[in-house]
Amino acid sequence: MTSKLPKYLAIFSLVWVFIVSCSPQHQQSTFANAGPVAQQQSNLYYLMFWIAALIFVLVQGALIFALLNFRRREKPIPGSDFTVPDIPPKQVHGNTRLEIIWTIIPALILVVIAVPTVQTIYDTYQPPENSDPLEVVAMGHQWWWEFRYPDEGIVTANELFIPTDRPVRITLQSQDVIHSFWVPQAAGKKDTVPGNTNVMWLQIDEPGNYSGQCAEFCGVAHARMRFRVIAEEETDFNTWMEAMKTPPKMDTSEGYGLFLAHCSMCHSIDSYNENSYEKELTMQDERWDDWYFNQEESVRVSAPNLTHLGIRSMLAAGQRDMTKENLITWIKDPSEFKQGTRMQSVASVYKGGPAKLEDYEIEAIADYLLAQIPDGWGLAKADGAIEEEAEAMVWNTAEEHGEYLFVNQGCAGCHSLNEEEVIVGPSMYGLYARSGDKVPGLSAEEYIYQSIVYPNEYIVEGYPANVMPQIFINLSEEELQALVSYLKTIE
Ligand code: CUA
Repeated sequence: MTSKLPKYLAIFSLVWVFIVSCSPQHQQSTFANAGPVAQQQSNLYYLMFWIAALIFVLVQGALIFALLNFRRREKPIPGSDFTVPDIPPKQVHGNTRLEIIWTIIPALILVVIAVPTVQTIYDTYQPPENSDPLEVVAMGHQWWWEFRYPDEGIVTANELFIPTDRPVRITLQSQDVIHSFWVPQAAGKKDTVPGNTNVMWLQIDEPGNYSGQCAEFCGVAHARMRFRVIAEEETDFNTWMEAMKTPPKMDTSEGYGLFLAHCSMCHSIDSYNENSYEKELTMQDERWDDWYFNQEESVRVSAPNLTHLGIRSMLAAGQRDMTKENLITWIKDPSEFKQGTRMQSVASVYKGGPAKLEDYEIEAIADYLLAQIPDGWGLAKADGAIEEEAEAMVWNTAEEHGEYLFVNQGCAGCHSLNEEEVIVGPSMYGLYARSGDKVPGLSAEEYIYQSIVYPNEYIVEGYPANVMPQIFINLSEEELQALVSYLKTIE
């Protein structure tokens, strides 16, 4: 008898696992409905469950009744030790009335299930008419989520902000393979299919964080393709939206330069700028094509938009909390948290291994990224210190100021000052002398100035477009003039 104990224990633990996974307390439980779509789907589920449970009880009851009542019985012959075998019951074949009954009943059950099922499919496909849904595009990437707000011109990643009590229409797309968008508490899963567009909607009633994940096996980091839905009261949501369009404090720290030199080819950080939405869409496609058509040599691949990263709560598509320590570990060696990232296999700063950067440089990048918060966001953090530092910078000449900017804005990460050396972009050597006759009607100064502000309009032959960040338009006029003055001196 004792030998059966482990078996019972095993069965019990298995049953326990299944029961626990149904607990509505779990943050990814489909039983903890957070809004009308989930509620309707849940109702359908319960309807089917109870119908199935009733059928189960009736069928099993009839079976047990028949087994017990009509089992073979041997009758004793009175006054002897012998028994007589039971006489077989009357053999019946065919009973029209019974057969009609047991055809009609299941058909009726199917109708009872089909009507609300079809109704639910239609209801959960598009938001109710006359509701004013928020439009969101959820784009699956290996292995992270891009969220676009086309009406607001906002692009972000892995954290989807939505208002409560308002339908959100989600257009589902994928750039690479099939993924599946799933927020268990808010709505059923739906696939994102490359070359095809799916639509769903959801709505969340209570403010809070709702966890989501990719629910379709999509490659090595599929299990690490999580995201978070952050539902906020309408006013808080609007604050977030406005904040996303507000630039951060101009940051000329060393981290900024390092970020521009090593990260900015793939990660945009400037979605607060006007027209940055269209630009980001184009660039994301170009980065993808770059990688897709030349996987051996490409140093670019589609990547999460990092605008205002400092206000996000998680990093690496939901793998860790956003803390400085985690961010440093992540930049240093992404495979610590997540194996198989394209960042690590594609970016020149990694090329498959840990970042080829000094620890202090990684820390500088982390500091810079964490400082990417909309100006005026939340508590006014130690503003005084930063302003004092900025005031302390006094330039004797525009050239000196320009030289500082050239290094601290990251220009030096891509443009050498030597005649021979090419880092990423063209060398700045002798720039002034050759700039005068580049574009008819533009003086050398104007040409240099325009090339900084609108890099894509003035692509030097032999260099690809869209590599230089289009963010220097945010520099002040004085800073731009300083840069031009400095660049004139490189001969
Ligand atoms: Cu994306 Cu699984």
